[in-house]
Amino acid sequence: MIVSPSILSADFANLGRDICMLDESDAQWIHCDVMDGVFVPNISFGFPVIKAVSELTDKPLDVHLMIVDPGRYVGAVRDCGAAIMNVHQEACTHLHRTVQAIRDAGMKAAVTLNPATPVSTLEDIITDVDMVLLMSVNPGFGGQKFISHILEKTRRLRRLIDESGSKALIEIDGGVNLTTGAALAEAGADALVAGNAVFNAPDPKQVISALTAL
Ligand code: DX5
Ligand code: ZN
Repeated sequence: MIVSPSILSADFANLGRDICMLDESDAQWIHCDVMDGVFVPNISFGFPVIKAVSELTDKPLDVHLMIVDPGRYVGAVRDCGAAIMNVHQEACTHLHRTVQAIRDAGMKAAVTLNPATPVSTLEDIITDVDMVLLMSVNPGFGGQKFISHILEKTRRLRRLIDESGSKALIEIDGGVNLTTGAALAEAGADALVAGNAVFNAPDPKQVISALTAL
C-alpha cells in the first residue's frame, strides 16, 4: 500500500522536523492539502509552504487542491516541486483540458471526487488520468470520521478502472486509520492518505509502516 501522510495534521511550528520524520519513514509520498476558503470552508497553506517542503525531501509531493478552478495554477504547482496534482472534478469546468495541462507540465494527473459525486462522472476520462482520489470525508478539515459508504464506492471505481483498461491508481483521503485502511485495501485501494492517524500517534513512523503493510 502506498501511504501519503497529510501534513495538514503536522506541527506547523516544527514543520521541518515533521518533514524529516516523514523522509525517514516508509511513506512513499507526502500529501499537501491546499484550501482556498471558497471551495471548502477552511484555508490551509499555499505554494511557498509546498516549495519549502520540497526542499526538505526527495519524496514525491502529492498536492491536493481544494480550490476553485485549479487549472489556473498548473504552472505554479509544478514550480513548487509537485509530482502529483489532484484537482476536484467539482471544481473544473473543463476537466479534460486541465488533466492534459497537468500531464503536459510533467506531473501525474489525479482527479478527486467529493463523497456525493458519483464514480460514473469519470467514465469518459478514466483512461486519461493517473489516479482517482476518493474523499471519504467532506473536504476541509483533518480528523473527521470515515464515511463507510466509500468502501462500496471504492469497489465500484475498481470495477470501472479494471473494465476500461485504465492504469489509474485509487487513493482514499479522510478518516483513514489501521481499521478503515484494512477495509480499503480489501476494497481495492492502492494509496491511503492519513493525517490525524499518523501525526497524533505516539509513534508516527510505526503507524506509517503498519499502513504500508496493509
Ligand atoms: C481533508 C484533507 C485531508 C486531511 C485528512 O480535507 O483533504 O487530506 O488532511 O486528514 P485525516 O486523515 O485526519 O482525516
Ligand atoms: Zn487531502
